[in-house]
Order: sequence, then structure tokens, then C-alpha cells
Amino acid sequence: MIKYVHYKYVINFIISELEGEVVKSHMKTYETPKQYIDLSSIKLSGRILDIGGGGEGVISRHSGHNVIAIDRRADELAETPDIGTKIIMDACNLNFIDKYFDHITCFYTLMYMDLPEISQFLQEAYRVLKSGAKLWVWDIIIPTIKTADVFIAQLQVKVSEEQTITTGYGVTWRREQSLDIIKDLCENAGFIYHEGNENSESFSLCFQRQ
Ligand SMILES: C[S@@+](CC[C@H](N)C(=O)[O-])C[C@H]1O[C@@H](n2cnc3c(N)ncnc32)[C@H](O)[C@@H]1O
Repeated sequence: MIKYVHYKYVINFIISELEGEVVKSHMKTYETPKQYIDLSSIKLSGRILDIGGGGEGVISRHSGHNVIAIDRRADELAETPDIGTKIIMDACNLNFIDKYFDHITCFYTLMYMDLPEISQFLQEAYRVLKSGAKLWVWDIIIPTIKTADVFIAQLQVKVSEEQTITTGYGVTWRREQSLDIIKDLCENAGFIYHEGNENSESFSLCFQRQ
């Protein structure tokens, strides 16, 4: 039963993400093996800005009322649990004053952005983070060779000792993505590499603002 609901969610998500494009029933999909992500030992304090924080609202569930979740899509924010603050906003144009946040998080959001858009977002992220504050990224590796129209990252996320979420994030397969590509973009924006982890399918990165 849970599996059915989850599957339906993924399909709905893909269809809404691909709105504006013709949705073809014969579209080929690729699903990653399930990625197990444990956020339970990570503690974020102070002001937290979560980019693309609609949908499951993973970071809002993880860090609670200190989180401001922004998303360009109102429908994604509407379905997120009411924890913290939700604002419709584009990551490339952050309407906050300089040096305001202690953390910026991107949980499976960069996979939805093209590379120039990520660079523009990173400039904004740098501007609104305090000196010494951190940028956190969790995302999926998208291979260079495209073998389907739609790429779906399958995840199980341990948000806390009490809460684990099983979900899938689907996107039109437009470009490759790797830890190195994202690390280079972050360093080009001025961020200092703090730590990173990867396996064959997914990666996480943490940077510090100078
Ligand atoms: C699938 S969600 C990622 C998972 C989400 N963080 C969660 O906790 O479930 C990706 C979100 O990023 C949003 N997004 C993509 N590009 C964006 C941008 N430039 N500015 C704001 N939100 C963006 C999408 O609207 C989508 O809701």
C-alpha cells in the first residue's frame, strides 16, 4: 500500500515537473537504486535557508522552526508540512539582506537547475550567508550518457531518530551531474570546501563562506 502511494507520488511529481512540455506515455524512465541518507546526526542551528524546500520538506522536518523554506513553486510549498516559514522565491534572486543566514541547505534541488542557474544561485547564497556560515548540498549523480527521458532518484531519508521518509525525485534528464561539477561551481563562487562524501549514485558536500 505504501509502495503504491509512493509510486503514484513519483508519477504525479514527474508530470507536474514536466508541465509545459508534452507528457508522452512512452517516456522512458531510469530509477536509481535506493539511496539511504542519514541526517539524524547533523545539527543545524541559527537561521537556516532551505532552497527548493517544497515537496517533502526534508530540511524543515529535520531542523524545525528555524528554517525558511523557499521554492519557486507554490504548489510544492503547499504540500510541505507547516513547519517554519515558507516563501515563494527564486533561488537566483534571494530577497534577503546580506550576511543574514547561518546555513543554506539544498536537498535534491540542484538536480532541477541548469548549470548557469546554479552559478547564479551560488552568488546569491554567498551574499546572504554570514562569514564562516555553511552551505550544504545533498544530490544525485546523473551520468553523462543519457539512457532515458526521465531520471528518478529513489531515496530513504532518516530525518531524525523518530522519522524516516521514503520518496523519489524525478526530473527530465537534461544534463550530467557529479560531486566534482558542483564542487567546482561552489569554489568558483568563493566557497571554501569543508567536506564531501560520495558513493556510486549520490553525494553530499559542505562548504564554508569566507
Ligand atoms: C524535488 S524538490 C527537492 C526536494 C525537497 N528539498 C524536499 O525536501 O522534498 C526540488 C524543488 O526545487 C524547486 N526549485 C527548482 N529550481 C528552483 C529555483 N531556481 N528556485 C527555487 N526553487 C527551485 C522545485 O520547484 C522543487 O520543488
